[in-house]
Amino acid sequence: MVTAVHTLESRAITHLMTVMRDASTPHEAFAAHARRLMRLLAEEGIACLPHTRIEVTTPCGTFVGEKLLVASAVCAVSIMRAGDSLVEEVRAAWPGVRVGKLLIQRDEQTAIPRLFYEKLPADIARMHVLLCDPMLATGGSAMMAIDALLKRGVRAAFIIFLNVLSCPEGIARVHAAHPAVQIITCATDERLNERKFIVPGLGDFGDRFYGG
Ligand code: PRP
Ligand code: URA
Repeated sequence: MVTAVHTLESRAITHLMTVMRDASTPHEAFAAHARRLMRLLAEEGIACLPHTRIEVTTPCGTFVGEKLLVASAVCAVSIMRAGDSLVEEVRAAWPGVRVGKLLIQRDEQTAIPRLFYEKLPADIARMHVLLCDPMLATGGSAMMAIDALLKRGVRAAFIIFLNVLSCPEGIARVHAAHPAVQIITCATDERLNERKFIVPGLGDFGDRFYGG
């Protein structure tokens, strides 16, 4: 079985997330720092797809490295709206990657998600999926997205969930239902508050990224 959560750790992540967490950071700076952070997350997600070892010849010798095995069978799926920001960083790193969309909206009062729209490649059942959503709070939106993918025939073990900020409640919920889904996050915070927002968190990612 795959490890439940892989946390990205580096000075760059700490620096970028500190700016994003600061409530006084204006929209434009928030979006700029978030893009820089999500580019690192996107690269990590791509690197966690199945690879094979290859030997390359350098100008000065040989080097044993890795090559992506499944380049033609990967789809980046956005949980809209906020997930679009992360999919764009996957696309910036890998312009040819296929893309799918799930519009899932969390009710502002109850935090219960609703699926409004689904557009996925017809052959997604055979693909590896980089599922993109910056926030994992109650886990309701991620669960709804994973269920939509499984219904279309995607294998749980072929799903990598890319996430900027998580919390124990969301991780536990997704992992209990779908232990084969790999979660890659940049940080796991303490808990949810009474409004089901992550504490200390960074507030509403979508509003801060898109300007409200
Ligand atoms: C946010 C976020 C996740 C969801 C996480 O989206 O982007 O999709 O909440 O919360 P959950 O784990 O409790 O489901 P939201 O529905 O607020 O819409 P947005 O993308 O437009 O910001
Ligand atoms: N969605 C967000 O954008 N932030 C949270 O803290 C929880 C859900």
